[in-house]
Amino acid sequence: MPADARGRAPAAWIVQWAGLVAPGAAVLDLAAGGGRHALFFAERGHPVTAVDRDTSGLPSHPRVEPVTADLENGSPWPLAGRRFGAVVVTNYLHRPLMPALLDAIEPGGVLLYQTFMIGNERFGRPSRPEFLLRDGELLELVRGRFSVTAYEARLVSEPAMAMVQRIAARKLV
Ligand SMILES: C[S@@+](CC[C@H](N)C(=O)[O-])C[C@H]1O[C@@H](n2cnc3c(N)ncnc32)[C@H](O)[C@@H]1O
Repeated sequence: MPADARGRAPAAWIVQWAGLVAPGAAVLDLAAGGGRHALFFAERGHPVTAVDRDTSGLPSHPRVEPVTADLENGSPWPLAGRRFGAVVVTNYLHRPLMPALLDAIEPGGVLLYQTFMIGNERFGRPSRPEFLLRDGELLELVRGRFSVTAYEARLVSEPAMAMVQRIAARKLV
């Protein structure tokens, strides 16, 4: 499993459900950080668009397109008009982006999302409500528009104790 430049391996949830993504489909890695998932999908043959306000840590890879953008300063969605076969988000939540993020998935495309949820404040950061999913929030987000393949809301112990919520869902055609 390729690790990113910071030595971080892809999240187990993303690895587990990556097979839902159609071969060669374009992938958007939102708030990509060091690019562990961008690299993972690029190595699987997908063209990847990796968006972050700081793209300096992204791997240099022929299939990874870095897009430097502040997603929270009120600027227009940086990928207007573009559609992806999968959108991947981990350890990031900015609720105003959700409509654009779901619209960016083409029919039949896949949403893989994992981030912290309410209850995580017992273990440290993030602890502020705006950074923590509410109970069932990812399910509510996709209801009526996606078919849910897998969903979990649970305590994990790796890489550290945390309350997370995660979903793998396919957009209805
Ligand atoms: C906890 S890291 C997660 C990185 C990656 N998704 C992962 O799981 O390895 C959160 C990422 O969100 C990015 N981020 C935070 N605020 C942002 C903003 N306003 N616009 C764009 N990216 C932002 C940070 O630069 C950071 O890379």
